[in-house]
Amino acid sequence: MAKKIGILTGGGDCPGLNPAIKGCVWTAEKLGFECVGLNEGWKGLVEGKTVKLTKKTTEYLVTEGGTYLGTSRTNPYKKEGMVKRCLSNFKKLRLFALIAMGGEDTLGVASRLHADFKFPVVGVPKTMDNDLSATDYTFGFDTSVTRAMKAAHSLIDTGRSHRRVMVLEVMGRHAGWVALFTAIASAADYVCIPEKKVRVKEMVEKVKKAYARKKFALVVTSEAAELEGISGDLEPQQKDEFGHIILKERGMGEKLASIIQKETKIETRHSVIGHMQRGGAPTLFDRILGLRVGIKAVELVKEKKFGMMAALKGNEIKAVPLSKSTGKLKVIDKKWFEIMDILFD
Ligand code: F6P
Repeated sequence: MAKKIGILTGGGDCPGLNPAIKGCVWTAEKLGFECVGLNEGWKGLVEGKTVKLTKKTTEYLVTEGGTYLGTSRTNPYKKEGMVKRCLSNFKKLRLFALIAMGGEDTLGVASRLHADFKFPVVGVPKTMDNDLSATDYTFGFDTSVTRAMKAAHSLIDTGRSHRRVMVLEVMGRHAGWVALFTAIASAADYVCIPEKKVRVKEMVEKVKKAYARKKFALVVTSEAAELEGISGDLEPQQKDEFGHIILKERGMGEKLASIIQKETKIETRHSVIGHMQRGGAPTLFDRILGLRVGIKAVELVKEKKFGMMAALKGNEIKAVPLSKSTGKLKVIDKKWFEIMDILFD
């Protein structure tokens, strides 16, 4: 009988997950394994709920957004007895290994299970936020920024026509990658990221200068950006099982638009694109990256390289320890600040 690999996708969905599932399933069949999907992240292992995965059922997943397996933000370490159930269901389902696809939270659980119980798990990095350490990029990011960039272009058209300042709020949680890349790629006039507190005076001056030149301005903000001199508005709020607050409810775009309008006396509008930047078909880059890391994950299972993750390093897919990818977020650093100084002058 073929050895069985379980696959789960946890945390926020993102484009590239389905290609990664296909990469796993098609490689597994080639190498003599069979695959079974666990429904809705770690919840699927806690409850032992599965779906059969074959080459036939996954053939067109390379073209699809979202995740065929469903997802959740279930943290088995949060509730008593859940880790035990994960371990016993793993045995009951006669799994040989597990492939966990996720970001910091999902892979954090995988890393902990491996450290605590030598659990045979391999990680596949995903997140639209691109904030995972030990990999150059995560799939989901390219599609999300491409989507946000298109939204920015729409705002440029309408803002320019109405002689307005437009503010676009994007997701990305506590890393500003989505905001920064969207702003750079759409020639925005100012960008607000969580890694650098927003200096209101500076932002207002830049907006005024841009408006004087072209009777229009675009500001891109991350949902988690913070204003200099104001702290603490990130707490206390409703949190998920991994302790994350729901950032879109902070209304950063709206807040900035109202400040800009008040300070500049120029009519200003804001737009929040929310989950529209996370759904939909993956870009070419995310399709190929998803497939490649999925393929590598199964190869790692075959080599019994557990506790590892399939990461993009340069143009190669390499194995890195799961422990290195979690624990510390990859955020925007100094060399990008220098690029910001050049491009948002
Ligand atoms: O981590 C991915 C992400 O899309 C973040 O950018 C965002 O803050 C969060 O998930 C939104 O979560 P939810 O889908 O639970 O609203």
